[in-house]
Amino acid sequence: MNVTTYHTPALIGVVGAGTMGAGIAEALASAPGHEVILCDANIELAERGKQRIEEGLARRVRSGKLEANSADELSSRIRVAEIETLTDRELIVEAIVEQLEPKRSLFERLDGITVAGAVLATNTSSLSITEIGRGLSHAVVGMHFFNPAPVMKLVEVIAGAATPPEAIVKAKAIAERIGKTPVEVAEGAGFVVNRILIPMINEAVEVLGAGTASAEDIDAALRLGANHPMGPLALGDLVGLDVVLAIMEVLQSETGDPKYRPHPILRKYVRAGWLGRKTGRGFHVYP
Ligand code: 3HC
Repeated sequence: MNVTTYHTPALIGVVGAGTMGAGIAEALASAPGHEVILCDANIELAERGKQRIEEGLARRVRSGKLEANSADELSSRIRVAEIETLTDRELIVEAIVEQLEPKRSLFERLDGITVAGAVLATNTSSLSITEIGRGLSHAVVGMHFFNPAPVMKLVEVIAGAATPPEAIVKAKAIAERIGKTPVEVAEGAGFVVNRILIPMINEAVEVLGAGTASAEDIDAALRLGANHPMGPLALGDLVGLDVVLAIMEVLQSETGDPKYRPHPILRKYVRAGWLGRKTGRGFHVYP
């Protein structure tokens, strides 16, 4: 399982053009010399992801946070295409639905079309890198970005049982090149951040359910009393309550520890389709 060393121009692919995939494509395109192809199940979905990136860039240009030509340059480094065109990519980052089977079948497909030496990375927030990469001829590594991906400085770089050290070196080099700080993490339920952060969100739901404080006050309390940039319920809404639930379920099943039981209110909200910002309603309402 050889891995080509990182050099520029770097040919990169991102599969999954939702919130995380689009944010990751934007982050990866922020370094000169990176050329990113953004894909999804079909071109329309990929185009929608690119459009979301352009809207975000235009917003930052309008508010004076970004030069118009920098936005144009970044945008020109991202093009939309079908998954079958990823043949020459040296790094492909997957950010599709957080379920094992769809991820495994995508990785099998990528394994069959990409050049030898390419690294296949998954942005999974809690699934096993070892299992996603089982039986593949390419190196598979975890590159876990945080929402919003263009802003958050951390990338957890995770090795599965068969990940060669060169793939870790390459993932870390690319993360550094785009201004992130990579932290090497062993495979373990929730890695580091989600193992700590997601139970905190679940605990905030418990505090809400117990009637201890309102959603607004719980969030204000953590913002002002612990200097968190946003409160835990607002953070759950940002991440997506379906994602929070899925991660709690993995923590519970992997550890067998009842302290990771997803709160019933969290489950109820997900059943109601109140998933947070992306559906306009979660613990808060987003007009
Ligand atoms: N895309 C690109 N840039 C964005 C953005 C987005 N979606 N949202 C905000 N920004 C940029 C702004 O343009 C601004 O840039 P500047 O510093 O160059 O001016 C900067 O981020 C700060 O934005 P704002 O001033 O508008 O807003 P805030 O200061 O309130 O910051 C926040 C927003 C960055 C989201 C901040 O509230 C925060 O850090 N929240 C916590 C986020 C967090 O914990 N994320 C991790 C979640 S867990 C996860 O993702 C793992 C997964 O597996 C579940």
